[in-house]
Amino acid sequence: MRILIIGASSGIGRELAIQYAIKGNEVIAIARRKPLLHELSQISPNIRIAQCDISNIAETDVILSAIFKETVDLVILCSGIGDINLKLDFTLEKQTIDVNILGWTFCVDTIYTKFEKQAYGHLVILSSCGGLRGEPMAPSYSASKAYQINYTEALCKKAYKSKLPIHITDIRPGLVNTRMAKGSGLFWVMPTEKVAMQIMNAISKKRKVSIVTKRWRIIHRILRYIPRSWYVRL
Ligand SMILES: NC(=O)c1ccc[n+]([C@@H]2O[C@H](COP(=O)([O-])OP(=O)(O)OC[C@H]3O[C@@H](n4cnc5c(N)ncnc54)[C@H](OP(=O)(O)O)[C@@H]3O)[C@@H](O)[C@H]2O)c1
Repeated sequence: MRILIIGASSGIGRELAIQYAIKGNEVIAIARRKPLLHELSQISPNIRIAQCDISNIAETDVILSAIFKETVDLVILCSGIGDINLKLDFTLEKQTIDVNILGWTFCVDTIYTKFEKQAYGHLVILSSCGGLRGEPMAPSYSASKAYQINYTEALCKKAYKSKLPIHITDIRPGLVNTRMAKGSGLFWVMPTEKVAMQIMNAISKKRKVSIVTKRWRIIHRILRYIPRSWYVRL
């Protein structure tokens, strides 16, 4: 397969890039941090890299157009940022919105349109269990993940109605041991390798939604159904 991983310089995206490359796939890894991308490209000759900031729409447009000159079978959109923002600093909120909403939307819209042109494709996005409820420690992060969950459902319905073999998968991680897992008192923080393995399994089965790791399904269910009057007391 020819696989594009957006946000592959660290964490889950990096691990997925390595695992897919080891299995003999051609992987194109993109992100902002060039030294980390370069280091990743040394791991396997199957990994090619490109530097890209998805919040820069013009730059992202050029890079995605170049990559899609050849067909792409699978795109995994891992890029994301999120900060603890107890003081509601707008600068931090805007950074999150620029990447997780504006840049993210440009990516998924462009990729979906390219898939329509090539008449097939599989788009995988990484939202979060944290997108189910508003989180006061990181309001724009949890809200941006709610946006991604809803948007992905829209694309999933669109793909179904198009009758084209375009598949959309929403991966909802719980806490994973990457730089993204911030704050104190974190629990059930899962190793990146285990998370990547379960994501690859969900992708191979073309799941519409997958909560990783499996034990996070318990938290996901609680978050989904707990009434707001209880949730605000937690
Ligand atoms: N770790 C968790 O507990 C957890 C839980 C739920 C969901 N998730 C989601 O999983 C995804 C992957 O996160 P992670 O945990 O693997 O954390 P991570 O190590 O921080 O990875 C985030 C990736 O996004 C890239 N990125 C950030 N801003 C970007 C931009 N403007 N343009 C292009 N790439 C950008 C980063 O690369 P550069 O900085 O080099 O650009 C990095 O490769 C995120 O969407 C995150 O929200 C994580």
